[in-house]
Amino acid sequence: MNIRNARFEDIPALAEIHVLSWQHTYRGIVPDKYLDSLTMPTREAIWRENLAQSTPKVIVVQAGKKVVGFSCFGKCRDNRASANDGEIWAIYLSPLHLGKGLGRALLSESCEQLIAQGKTRISLWAIVGNERAIHFYQAAGFAPEEDSLKTFELAGAEIAEIRYVQNIS
Ligand SMILES: CC(C)(COP(=O)(O)OP(=O)(O)OC[C@H]1O[C@@H](n2cnc3c(N)ncnc32)[C@H](O)[C@@H]1OP(=O)(O)O)[C@@H](O)C(=O)NCCC(=O)NCCS
Repeated sequence: MNIRNARFEDIPALAEIHVLSWQHTYRGIVPDKYLDSLTMPTREAIWRENLAQSTPKVIVVQAGKKVVGFSCFGKCRDNRASANDGEIWAIYLSPLHLGKGLGRALLSESCEQLIAQGKTRISLWAIVGNERAIHFYQAAGFAPEEDSLKTFELAGAEIAEIRYVQNIS
């Protein structure tokens, strides 16, 4: 396993992981109409824009030479966030590489980099029903924040998410 900063040549892999992971993880939670509309070219364009900006920072994990997962992190996007608040914006692995410790390695590296930047609190949002991810984050020390439940609309459905937080001592 190797973790490194994302590069522009990783864009096809990032787009593929994003599409496959969403379709695998959120089937039954997010409408099929939305999941089946995800395409590589659209996601590649979004990744090109993401990587051109300095926030969020994007790191990738490789299995052998192949990029099989990514994490995006940076400043906290919540309205009431202070400069000391960091956020894991997204962590996604290819469905073939779940449960092998790669997510844990990506999360540790992301948190270490945020702590090195002086962040004293790290948060993330998880979609209600994504039990594997919620178990994973709680095992890593994140706790659900009271009254944080909010919803957003996706392809006509209301999707609920909860904020998870870890204070760095
Ligand atoms: C969620 C996800 C990133 C987790 O990565 P993973 O590689 O599958 O998980 P790992 O193998 O690293 O972790 C596995 C185990 O270590 C535990 N663990 C992880 N970090 C830990 C930590 N810091 N301390 C102790 N235990 C930890 C996990 O809870 C899990 O425990 P289990 O053996 O009881 O199942 C990955 O499954 C994924 O990409 N899922 C699909 C996309 C997704 O849901 N992303 C999150 C969106 S919010």
